[in-house]
Amino acid sequence: MMTLWNFALTLFRALFYWVEAIFLFFIPRRFRFKDVSNDIVLITGGGNGFGQMLAMRFTQLGSTVVLWDIDESNLLKTKNAIRKFGGLCYCYTCDVSNRSNVYSTAKKVKEEVGDVTILINNAGIVFGKPFFELDDENIVKIFNVNTLSHFWTCKAFMPSMREKGRGHIVSVASLAGLTASPNLTDYSATKFASVGFQESLWLETYFNNYENINFTTVCPFYMNTALFSGVSSEIIGILDPEYAAEEVIKAILTNQNIVIVPRFFYILYALKSFLPSKTLLALYDFFGVQRMMASRKNQ
Ligand SMILES: *[C@@H]1O[C@H](CO)[C@@H](O)[C@H](O)[C@H]1NC(C)=O
Ligand SMILES: *[C@@H]1O[C@H](CO)[C@@H](O)[C@H](O)[C@H]1NC(C)=O
Ligand SMILES: *[C@@H]1O[C@H](CO)[C@@H](O)[C@H](O)[C@H]1NC(C)=O
Repeated sequence: MMTLWNFALTLFRALFYWVEAIFLFFIPRRFRFKDVSNDIVLITGGGNGFGQMLAMRFTQLGSTVVLWDIDESNLLKTKNAIRKFGGLCYCYTCDVSNRSNVYSTAKKVKEEVGDVTILINNAGIVFGKPFFELDDENIVKIFNVNTLSHFWTCKAFMPSMREKGRGHIVSVASLAGLTASPNLTDYSATKFASVGFQESLWLETYFNNYENINFTTVCPFYMNTALFSGVSSEIIGILDPEYAAEEVIKAILTNQNIVIVPRFFYILYALKSFLPSKTLLALYDFFGVQRMMASRKNQ
């Protein structure tokens, strides 16, 4: 009897949230934004590209911004841009692939700036070569930067979020973390891992009664930043990073759990789960998925 009642209740809740989501879909997101003006936002890889764009936007929203980057000169450039805007910005050179460097820098941030309330794991690298041309050392390196660093930063910054009962963990993953493409084994593997890490940690956090720590996993298509310079996509076109940054900010401000940019790819992601693989191959061929990475400029 009890189980039946619980089942009915669960069904009702599930239905309610579904209707709620449909209802919210029609309310412009800007009416649902949370206030981040009292937040301390840490962005790894914040010295250039996508991380820098996110930093500028959080500055405009009044947040205190903490930037980590391996490249000191990039950090300085971003810092100057933010200071010019009148924002508060703290910069630290940190190699996220070095665990003890992450922990010691995190300690400095806590002492010098305060408790980070929004953590954005954005730093990433790509080699993107045919599998047999990948260098063994580089395979280990990409896992250190793109995946393992998230374990270290979350271990360093989540305890204070749990104490406060407030926080947000953001992972800048990739569409390549949901659907792979050729010549990208290194990158795709780290991004699938990072998507799985986020999902598991989100569930664990939620079911341990830390419902107010939110998680956002970002899965953008290839963007025209240094990381994927030269990559071209025949039919769909390459993603404008400014647009992507805007979408990501909106997702964070509305506590969205997972976001695919551009939205077109929600269709591909859905199709992937039930179409036969031969159908997928034909579609990939049409969209030129297998030719995209070939034009990437190696740095
Ligand atoms: C890793 O970071 C630690 C602490 O910041 C530093 O002492 C060490 O030299 C770094 N290791 C490498 C290989 O860069
Ligand atoms: C996200 O945060 C809100 C509070 O802002 C909370 O009500 C909600 O449960 C959280 N969502 C998830 C999926 O963790
Ligand atoms: C993989 O990359 C190589 C070298 O850049 C290129 O010649 C090849 O066409 C690519 N293969 C696929 C399937 O994209």
